[in-house]
Amino acid sequence: MFMPTSIANLGKDSGKTRPGRELPDDLDPQRLPQHVAVIMDGNGRWANHRGMPRIAGHRQGAKALKELVRCCKDWGVPALTAYAFSTENWRRPTEEVDFLMALFDKLLRRELKEMHREGVRISFVGDLSALAPSLQRTMENAMAQTADNTAVHFSVAVNYGSRSEMVNACRQVAAQVQSGELSLDEVTDEHIEQQLYTAGTVSPDLMIRTSGEQRLSNFLLWQLAYTELYFTDVFWPDFDRAAFADALRAFKGRDRRFGKAEDKVAASLTA
Ligand code: IPE
Ligand code: IPE
Ligand code: MG
Repeated sequence: MFMPTSIANLGKDSGKTRPGRELPDDLDPQRLPQHVAVIMDGNGRWANHRGMPRIAGHRQGAKALKELVRCCKDWGVPALTAYAFSTENWRRPTEEVDFLMALFDKLLRRELKEMHREGVRISFVGDLSALAPSLQRTMENAMAQTADNTAVHFSVAVNYGSRSEMVNACRQVAAQVQSGELSLDEVTDEHIEQQLYTAGTVSPDLMIRTSGEQRLSNFLLWQLAYTELYFTDVFWPDFDRAAFADALRAFKGRDRRFGKAEDKVAASLTA
């Protein structure tokens, strides 16, 4: 496996936020989401509006993502999952798909050292087996190198589709029942969750989609069951710290009830 020795034993997260990069004063560190999911949409339109090719939008979008990972670390958001390539994105022109795959590989190789130094744990969700073997190796290496880091868990959804994730989970559960390893009573929410690509991670509490589109596009359909949804017209390459702060402000104002009565209603019933 490709594993540059120079980065094998780098020091972990220094724990310090760079000056000027602290959490905005009006945001409460106690009321931040613990896991943010993002559908990074609008790269193509961002480029079109500038008379540039779509790939220029993807390049700029990658910069926005890198900055968001840093921002999560600076502000104390411990987990980020970013939708980078869906199972449906193979329908795009070959040149665009090839460009995106090459960009993932290049970025991972180039940014790994710094991310590791920053204490970022990198992982992937999706069917990685369909990707080029060299890209799979780059991904495996990034996961292995950063597995023990704890500053931010950065998960990238590549060749990810929620429906195929659930089909996989169903097949695994069916095989377990068929072999007698599992009884029907043991097929529970928790058990199914353990068969998903996201097993072992908390569900996102905030999902952000950029570019004005208001749909999930086959992203984390199970995991987003009780997630707060936030849509912004900003195109992904323009999604900066200020735009993220706006999303966090909206989240702060949400009343998360999980099926219960509103707090003040519950209080009035017992008063
Ligand atoms: C999101 O931007 C990036 C990927 C899906 C890889 P788009 O490429 O979908 O940009 P628009 O939606 O065409 O503007
Ligand atoms: C969703 O964006 C997938 C990613 C951001 C990776 P798309 O641009 O592919 O979604 P649709 O086609 O507009 O629903
Ligand atoms: Mg799009």
